[in-house]
Order: sequence, then structure tokens, then C-alpha cells
Amino acid sequence: MSIAEILDTMEYGPAPESDKEARAWIAALGGETKLFIGGQWRKAKSGESFETASPATGEVLVKIAQAGPADVDAAVKAAAKAQPGWAALSGHQRARYLYALARLIQRHSRLFAVLEALDNGKPIRETRDIDIPLVARHFYHHAGWAQLIDTELAGREALGVCGQIIPWNFPLLMLSWKIAPAIALGNTVVLKPAEYTSLTALLFAEMCQKAGLPEGVVNIVTGDGATGEQIVNHPGIAKIAFTGSTDVGRKIREATAGTGKSLTLELGGKSPFIVFDDADLDAAVEGVVDAIWFNQGQVCCAGSRLLVQESIHNRFVSKLTARMETLRVGDPLDKAIDIGAIVHPVQLARIRELVDAGVKEGAELHQPKAGLPAKGCFYPPTLLTNVHPASTVSRVEIFGPVLVATTFRTPAEAVELANNTEYGLAASVWSETLSLALDIAPKLKCGVVWVNGTNMFDAGVGFGGYKESGFGREGGREGLAAYSKPKWIAKAKPITDKPAPQASGDVVSTGFIDRTAKLYIGGKQARPDGGYSRPVLSPAGALVGEVGEGNRKDIRNAVEAARKAAGWATASEHNRAQILYYIAENLEARAAEFAERLSAMTGRRKADTAREVAASVSRLFSYGAWADKFEGAVHKPPLRGVALAMNEPLGILAIACPEEPGLLGFVSTFAPAIVMGNRVVVVPSASQALAATDFYQVLETSDVPAGVVNIVTGDRAALALELAKHEEVDGLWWFGSAATAGNLEKASAGNLKQVWTETVQRDWFSPAQGEGTDFLAKATQVKNIWVPYGE
Ligand code: NAI
Repeated sequence: MSIAEILDTMEYGPAPESDKEARAWIAALGGETKLFIGGQWRKAKSGESFETASPATGEVLVKIAQAGPADVDAAVKAAAKAQPGWAALSGHQRARYLYALARLIQRHSRLFAVLEALDNGKPIRETRDIDIPLVARHFYHHAGWAQLIDTELAGREALGVCGQIIPWNFPLLMLSWKIAPAIALGNTVVLKPAEYTSLTALLFAEMCQKAGLPEGVVNIVTGDGATGEQIVNHPGIAKIAFTGSTDVGRKIREATAGTGKSLTLELGGKSPFIVFDDADLDAAVEGVVDAIWFNQGQVCCAGSRLLVQESIHNRFVSKLTARMETLRVGDPLDKAIDIGAIVHPVQLARIRELVDAGVKEGAELHQPKAGLPAKGCFYPPTLLTNVHPASTVSRVEIFGPVLVATTFRTPAEAVELANNTEYGLAASVWSETLSLALDIAPKLKCGVVWVNGTNMFDAGVGFGGYKESGFGREGGREGLAAYSKPKWIAKAKPITDKPAPQASGDVVSTGFIDRTAKLYIGGKQARPDGGYSRPVLSPAGALVGEVGEGNRKDIRNAVEAARKAAGWATASEHNRAQILYYIAENLEARAAEFAERLSAMTGRRKADTAREVAASVSRLFSYGAWADKFEGAVHKPPLRGVALAMNEPLGILAIACPEEPGLLGFVSTFAPAIVMGNRVVVVPSASQALAATDFYQVLETSDVPAGVVNIVTGDRAALALELAKHEEVDGLWWFGSAATAGNLEKASAGNLKQVWTETVQRDWFSPAQGEGTDFLAKATQVKNIWVPYGE
């Protein structure tokens, strides 16, 4: 027998990890867990509980308290009480607590790792080497942000009490992703772990006590979706951060609409794993193992769709099926195990159902010959080939160790297949030709791309999705924005709807020719579909001009025109800057006319409106300047590689401008959007609409490509609602009343577009409030591209 044969046939003996300490910890819970509220352990007032079991054996570990409304209320109150004092500490003082937590997690890392494996079913090898070290890293990294907050986040402050709801696939890791940035910035939290996996969150609460964290900064309430809903609906919550299914994410979007709560959603995925014919196939096979069999495939960014170039399909599949035979499925506490247990029988049933559906639809099933453990919640590593891209298993997130394979011929086809999903979380690209991989990466519509790698994470590298995979980022500098707000907001007054002036029958003539201004769609002036127009009146009621009354059809046409202008996203930053300067120049050439028109619409003195025009010219210059300076970053995670954090445009952005100032509000919102590569559909101020319609002539003479800026005048709230509902619109900005903001947020739940609703008055004339990176950040989403780099 050759050595290779010996290695091939060699049996692995069991290498069991002791669960003695973890079981002693569970025993000390006394049969039923308590809630951690205001730094104290409290019995749930609801008196209810449910069992949590080890999925590997089915053995019930302990009863988990089911927090009810009174418990959630107590937790929110404790967090609210603690928040001002916590935020008032210096960044350095908070940094010391986070640092202490990181150290405590490291000191108890084995207990955490075993407890997580026991409760969740994931292999100890993963909890020990991946989950828990990343948790500690997250607290270290954010201890650093707390330390630097006064200089690096000057001008921003904490949001308040954050409600955080997490899933069961990475129980402690998701907790750290949520808690570390929130408390680093001075927020306090009420966190609910998933009902299947509450134990490590309770152990973490003990660490908070050991670290001497002030009471109420971290509150842990256990329970199921009902408890989650109570957190979402509690009026004392300033922000909800959720990770879980897209269905629940959508419900939370609807439930928080109109409440003023901030929201970030990390949802599901169906991420492509693309293998080109020049890839290192053996490395790619190992990549697949990590992509879909890591954590039993219960990973939101799992590479669950294998796209293989046709010419290597058979070779790759035979290598993969051979590798599948060597994967060991079994007791998560055995250190020689690759694949542990599925979290819960419900989840196992779902996986079985979906695989059966795939086979019925004609897929070919590949599973290793070795059987599964006699009892417990196990599912074998599975590959489905001959799968049609439109089939159920290609579209639906299975959330199990199931990979579906399709072929492609050309790079363009690979991109098309990869993007053919409502999700957009991650992608993995395998090719030894870096120019090919890096040509593909920007074309993939997702938040993370791994080149010749997969499932890499780091606290310093933002993580989050495009499209229906949610919005907001966790980790990195961009993750901090989600837990803070500009300080000026606290003192700002709400925007209220002003009564429209009554028509007096008088007419004001201004420098511009008085005719009904049309809409501006696809670079052309277009008559409104309904054939109606609306008057623009002076405060005294005199007619200044008329604009088109846009309707749903006009919105559809404008979005269609924006879709066709997709090339704008890839125009160079230099090119976009030049166009912005050109717009500024052409606006300046007509400054007097614009000032006159603004005076007619607002009754303000010429000197005053001239100042608005000048501020608008300056703003255009500012964004021209920013075009090539808001560039993203290069991260250096503690791995062999770098992550390129690229600021990408959202796509089609709908903007309902502030009602006033008519010109400066219009310029200050469309300019940052287009300079970052978005195409926009703008609904300008209704009372000062002529400022935007006069602007067509400026745009037409400034080389702005057709369809990049589309303007639809009319009823702002009604038009914004059409845009909020539109499935092809990727983002929406609303500057106006809170009542309309709520309707828009609710309507946006369809495709989970990113909505920014600002319902307080901003000083548009002040550069600190009226322009800058806050706008650019809202106009972009970060894509992190991980590339091999260095030794
Ligand atoms: P889920 O989305 O129902 O649960 C996630 C968390 O949300 C849990 O803590 C749960 O108690 C809570 N929750 C449930 N309903 C809620 C509501 N109405 N309001 C507030 N909180 C609520 O996920 P589930 O049912 O555990 O898994 C179902 C599917 O979801 C999986 O098969 C998978 O496809 C997907 N999923 C995705 C995850 C991800 O990381 N993207 C994580 C977990 C599940």
C-alpha cells in the first residue's frame, strides 16, 4: 500500500471535546434561564418559557424564559435610563469597557466555544477557531473606535436605545456585530437572541457583569418572534438592527415605518460561487467546502449557487463529489468533524422539502455514500446538478448544506446568472487571471466579493447586502454611521406642511418665457401624461408660471429613462466632476434670471435670492470637487489579503427635494446623487417648481447624458409614493413631513429599497449641514472586494 493510499483510507478516531464545564454552567441556571435587565438577573414577568435542545442529540438543555411586553418594557426603560450617562463617558472610558469585554471573551473562549457547539450544533472546530476569535476581534476593533470617537466621529452622537434582533446561525458572533459598535458609540441596547440559541448571549451577559459594565447598557431578553415584535414596536427604541430572514425583515420595515426609528437589515442571500475554466480547481473545490458546508450551509452569504464554466463542469463536479466523500458529518463536539447538526428539526424539514422539490424539478442529486449519525438533526453535504436557473432551488435560500450547480459559457453570462436573483449579499469569483476576476467584481450586484476565496470576515471590513439582502453595513467605519447621527439633528425643528397660497388672479412676469414648463425625462422635455398643469403662485397668490402635473405614468417613464442611462455609473469620476463644474458655470451665467424667478415665487428680496443662486453654484463646485475624493478605502484584515471598500452608486435614486429653498434644495440633493454615479428621478419643490424646470436649460447645455437627471413636477407626496412602490428604484430620499415619510417607508418594503427620510429642517445654506460626506454616503453603498495580496 502506498503512503497516499494509507492516507486515503486512514480512519479518524474520535477526538471529543469535554463539555463538562459547559454542562456545569447550564446546571447552574437552575432549569430555567432569567432575563438580564438593568444589570440584574430577573425572572420573566410573563411566567412563560420554552425548551432549548441540543440539535445533535435532541436532548433538552434548559428552559428559556419567554420575555413578554412587561419584560421588554422594563429592558427598554433600563437601557433608556443608562443611556445619557453612558454616552457622557469619554470615548476612552467606553473603550476600556469594550477592551475588558474582549479580554473576558478570550479568557472564557473555550466555554463559549463548547456552549455554542452544544446549543447550535455547529462543529467545535468552527466555534473555537472562527466564531469566538472573531467575536473577540470585534470588541477589540470597536474598543478602538470608542477611543477615537472624539476625533474621528466629531459632530456625530449616539442614537439612544437600540433594539437588536439576531438569528441562530452565528449566535455570539451576531451579538458582537450588533453590540460592539452600538455601545462603542454611546448607545445602550436591548438584544434578543434567536429562540433556538440563547445560551451564549446569557453567558455574554455574565461577562458584562464581570467587566463592571454600567447597569442597563446591555440588556438581554430571550424569547421568540413575539418578543422580537415587542422590541420593534416599543416607542422607547431609537433604532432597530435586525439580522434574519427577508420575510421578517420586510415585516420590520413595515412595522417601523413612520415611527422615526432608524433601521438596518441584514437579510438572506443566494450567493453565486463562480468558477472560471482557468481557476485552480483544487483550491476552488476547497473554496466550495468553505462556501456551502461551513456551518452546515446556514450562512446568509453561503456560496449556494455554483456557476461553473461549461468546459470544466464535468471535471469540477467529479473533483467535488470525490471531496464530498471525505467530509465527516457528526457530533459537533468531536474535533475531527467537518459538518455538525442542523440547528432545529424545523429547519431540517425545510431543507428536505426544498431538496425534494429540486429533484422533482429534474435536478440530479449527489450525496456521499457514508450514512449519517443514527439520531440528531443531521443532513449530508449535498450537490444538485442539472439545475435550471429559474427552478425553486436556484432561487430560494435553502439555508442548509445544499449547493446547486449551473453552467455558463462566457464571463458576461456568468455575471448575468450571478445577478439573476432578488438577493445581493455576496459572491465568490475563482480565476487565476486576476484581470478577469477584477473585471467581474464591479459587475456583481452584491455587498461582498471574494476573489479566490470565500466566507472571510473581519471587524474592520463592512458587511452587508444590496437589493433584498437588506441595507446598512456592519463592521468597518461604515458600520459606525448606522449607530450615530449628526448632532445638529437633536435641535432641529420638524418640517410641517405649509398651506398653499390662494390664487389672486394676478400674474407676475419674470425673465424666463412664461409658458407651461414640461417634465424633463430622458434628456427631453415631455408633456405630462395626464395633460394637466398646476400653477406656481407667489405668496400673494399671483401666477408666476405653470408646471406639468406628473402622474404614475410619468414616473414610470422617468424610471425607464433612468434605467437606460446605466452607463453613467461607469463614467470616470473626473468626467462626472467636469460635468458638475459645467452645470455650475451655466447656472452662474443665468444667475440673475434664477434670482428673479425665485423672488417671484417666494417674495424674497433679490439680494437674498441671488445669495441662494450663488450658494447653489458653490454647492455644484463642492460636489464636483468630491467626485474623485469620496473613494472608499483599502482594509488590511488579519488575513493574507486586502479588502477594497468601493463606494458604488445605489443605481436609480428617487429624490423628493425639500419644499424650500427651491433651488438650493434641488441642487443640494441631485448633485451628490449624480456625482456618485446614480441616475435620478427628482420631484422638486411644488411651491418653487419653476426653479427646477428652468434648470432643464442648464442641464441641456452642460453635457449631462440623457436620463441621468429626470424631473417630474407635481404633488410631491403622491409622486414620491409612486417612486417608493416602484420595484426598479433602488433608493429614495424624502425631505418633508413625518406623515408622508411613514407612508413612503411602508411602501418601500416591496423591494426593500434604501429610504432616507428627513423630517426635520436642515440649514441648507450652511456647508456643515447642507453638503458633504453624509450626502455622499447616503448616495452610495459599500462593496468590499477581498483580493489575495502579499505573502
Ligand atoms: P427569522 O427571520 O424568523 O428569525 C430571526 C430572528 O428574528 C429571531 O431572533 C426571531 O425570533 C426574530 N423574529 C421572528 N419574527 C419576528 C418578528 N415578526 N419581529 C421581530 N423579530 C422576529 O428566521 P428563522 O425563522 O429562524 O429562519 C427562517 C429562514 O430565514 C432560514 O431558513 C433562512 O433562510 C433565513 N435566515 C437567514 C439568516 C441570515 O443570517 N440572513 C439567519 C437566520 C435565518
